[in-house]
Amino acid sequence: MNRTVNVAIDGPAGAGKSTIAKKVAKTLQYIYVDTGAMFRAMAIHLIRRGTDTSDAAAISRDAQEADITIEYRDGEQVVLLNGENVTPFLRTEEVGNMASVSSVNPDVRTKMADLQRQLAKKQNVVMDGRDIGTVILPDAQVKIYLTASVEVRGMRRYKELVEKGLDADLEKIEAEIRERDHRDMTRPIAPLKQADDAVFIDSSDMTIDEVTEAILAVCREKLEQEG
Ligand code: DC
Repeated sequence: MNRTVNVAIDGPAGAGKSTIAKKVAKTLQYIYVDTGAMFRAMAIHLIRRGTDTSDAAAISRDAQEADITIEYRDGEQVVLLNGENVTPFLRTEEVGNMASVSSVNPDVRTKMADLQRQLAKKQNVVMDGRDIGTVILPDAQVKIYLTASVEVRGMRRYKELVEKGLDADLEKIEAEIRERDHRDMTRPIAPLKQADDAVFIDSSDMTIDEVTEAILAVCREKLEQEG
């Protein structure tokens, strides 16, 4: 059986991974897999359940009740939590912060890893996350590490909130980004780091289209080499 093509894009929160990974997937006609959304769905489950985040055993136990599945509707990823479409609730700060905390748990990670590997085995994917190139798909043909400065990421998030008419405090956003980076990069299991064979891209001074083009150029080059 032919191996599927896997493009792994890792990097910190707010580097533009999902916007860019979606565009890359569309151009290549691959499936886009947003792994952060899976951790966010788990976070929603734990928030609703009122799970004590300082109690690892409680997180492990309550996580077992969460059945998380991915579907594609009109080409968009939809995340189901115990059969309920929770996609509209995924992108709040509260859920993002809880996802960062609960994703430290080894049982949560194992559950997500199985699902992610199954998806990548079945079809050509562009998968974004934190540990895709290092742990989940170490044999991915293309690996990208996409980052940007804290200031640029903070400003992007700030503008996003203001555009939605929501309250935004730039200093607070930057502090949360720093905290999240620290937690994601220093956790003992599958921390965020650049894979040795990943191409590093700093998007601080690049437009979305420029980053998308740069990644597509890496894909073309690597896939040509593979034959
Ligand atoms: O990419 P995101 O902001 O949607 O991710 C939310 C959190 O989920 C992130 O802070 C850490 C965790 N996460 C992870 O541990 N591994 C992944 N592959 C993706 C996300």
